[in-house]
Amino acid sequence: MFSDKFGQVVAILGGQWGDEGKGKLVDIFSEDYEIVMRTNGGANAGHTVYVNNPTDPQKSEKFIFHLIPSGILHPGKVCVIGNGCVIHIPTLLEELKVLQEREINTLGRLVISDRAHLLFDYHMMIDALQENLKGKKKVGTTGRGIGPCYADKTSRIGIRACELVDFPQFASHFRENVRILKNMYGNFDYSVELEIERYREYSKLIQPMIKDTGLYLAQAFREQKKILLEGANALHLDIDHGTYPYVTSSNTGIGGILQGSGIPPQKINTTIGILKAYVSRVGSGPFPTELDNPIGEKIREIGYEYGSTTKRPRRCGWFDVPLARYAVRINGFQSINLTKLDVLTGFDTLQIGVRYFYKGQELDSVPADHLEDVEVEYIQVEGWKEDISKADSFQSLPENCKRYIQKIENLIECPIELIGVGQERDKLISRF
Ligand code: GDP
Ligand code: IMO
Ligand code: MG
Repeated sequence: MFSDKFGQVVAILGGQWGDEGKGKLVDIFSEDYEIVMRTNGGANAGHTVYVNNPTDPQKSEKFIFHLIPSGILHPGKVCVIGNGCVIHIPTLLEELKVLQEREINTLGRLVISDRAHLLFDYHMMIDALQENLKGKKKVGTTGRGIGPCYADKTSRIGIRACELVDFPQFASHFRENVRILKNMYGNFDYSVELEIERYREYSKLIQPMIKDTGLYLAQAFREQKKILLEGANALHLDIDHGTYPYVTSSNTGIGGILQGSGIPPQKINTTIGILKAYVSRVGSGPFPTELDNPIGEKIREIGYEYGSTTKRPRRCGWFDVPLARYAVRINGFQSINLTKLDVLTGFDTLQIGVRYFYKGQELDSVPADHLEDVEVEYIQVEGWKEDISKADSFQSLPENCKRYIQKIENLIECPIELIGVGQERDKLISRF
C-alpha cells in the first residue's frame, strides 16, 4: 500500500515543464487513496492514464483528463476540483460525457469548490488576442484562456462557481464582466445573452457538485480519509518560480497545492516529485538542455512526445540536474518518481546536464533571467540496450540503467523511489 509508505496526505507535483507523467501516478495511487483533488490550473493540463487490457496490451485503454482529477477511473473515489482551479464548464461536461460513454459512473463523485473561478469562452478569445499582440514573444499558451481567467481573479472581477447557485446574480455579474473586458480589449465578437442562456442549463447540472471543498477536506482528514493532491503543469511553469514570462498563470508548486486546496502545510505527509528521465517542453521559452536535432526527434518519436492538450510536438532534451534540483528545493520533494526511463533504451550513450555557466561563471541555481544564454556542462554515461518494459524490480534493471538512476539520484539529492518503465499501471517499479 502506497499510503503505508507515503502517509495519509500526499502531493504529487511535476518538477520540469509539465507532462512528466503525473496522471499515471495519480491514477495508480488512487487505488489506495479515497479523495483526489486538483488544486491549480485548468484545462491547460492534459493528464494521461492507460488502463491495462490483461489479454491484449495493444488494446490498453487511454484516457486524457484536463479538468477532472486523474483518480476518477477508480469506483467510489471522490474527485475534487479545488478553489485554485479555473473551470471551463463546457469542457468539464464534455469530459464527464466521454466518461459516461465509456461506462465510468461519475455520479456523486465529482465535487467542485464554491471558490473556484469560472473560465468562459471570452477568456480564450483574449488569450488568442494577447498571444497575437506578443508576436515573436508569444508564450505559446495552450489557448485555453488560463492567463486571462487568472487575471480576472487577481483583478477582482472574476466569477466564481458559488455564483451559479444564484442565477440572476450570475447573469448580471457576467454582463458586467464582459462590459469591462470589452472596454479593455475592444469590442470582441461575443454573444453575451446566448452564453447566459447556455449557462442557465449548465448551472442546473453543476450546482449539485458545488461545495465548500476546504471544509469538506478538513472533515475527510479528521475521518482519516486518505487524500491525494494532484498538481497540474509543473514547477518551471510556476508564475513565481518558473521561467517567467514563459510560464502559466498559477502557482504550480507546493504553494499552489496549499492555496488551491485550503489544506494546511503540516498535514501533507509526503511531497512526491515527478521527473521525466529526460526533459520536454511545449510552447516557447528557454530550454538549456534542448536537443534541437535528430537525437531530440528520436526521443520525441519513441516517447510519443506530443501535447495531450494541444497535440503540439514537445521539445525534448537531456535530463537537466540544475532544473531538477531547483524543483526539489522549492517543493521540498521527499521522493521522486522518475518516469519514461524505457524511452531511453537503445542509446549507446546518454548525457546528463549537470552544471550551468553564464559568461564563464558557474551558476549556483537556475537564474531568474538569461536562462537562454547559459552554457550547460554535461556528463556522459553508458546506455543500455535491454528491454526494460517488463522489469518489475530495481535489481532486475540492466546495470547501466541502474547507474543512470543512481547518478541522477545523487546529483539531485533526493531518493528516486518509483521508476516508470511504460505507460500502463503495471509499468511502475517501487524501490521500497
Ligand atoms: P502529465 O501531464 O504529467 O500527466 O503527463 P502527460 O500525460 O501529459 O504525458 C506523459 C505521457 O507519458 C503520457 O502519454 C503517459 O501515458 C506517458 N507515460 C507516463 N509514464 C510513462 C513511462 O514510465 N513510460 C512511458 N513510455 N510512458 C509513460
Ligand atoms: P500538464 O498538467 C505542459 C505550458 C504551455 C505554455 C505555458 C502557458 O499536462 O503537465 P497556459 O495555457 O497555461 O497559459 O500556457 O505553459 N503548459 C503546459 N505544458 N504541460 C502542461 O500541463 C501545461 N500547462 C501549461 O504549453 O508554454
Ligand atoms: Mg500533460
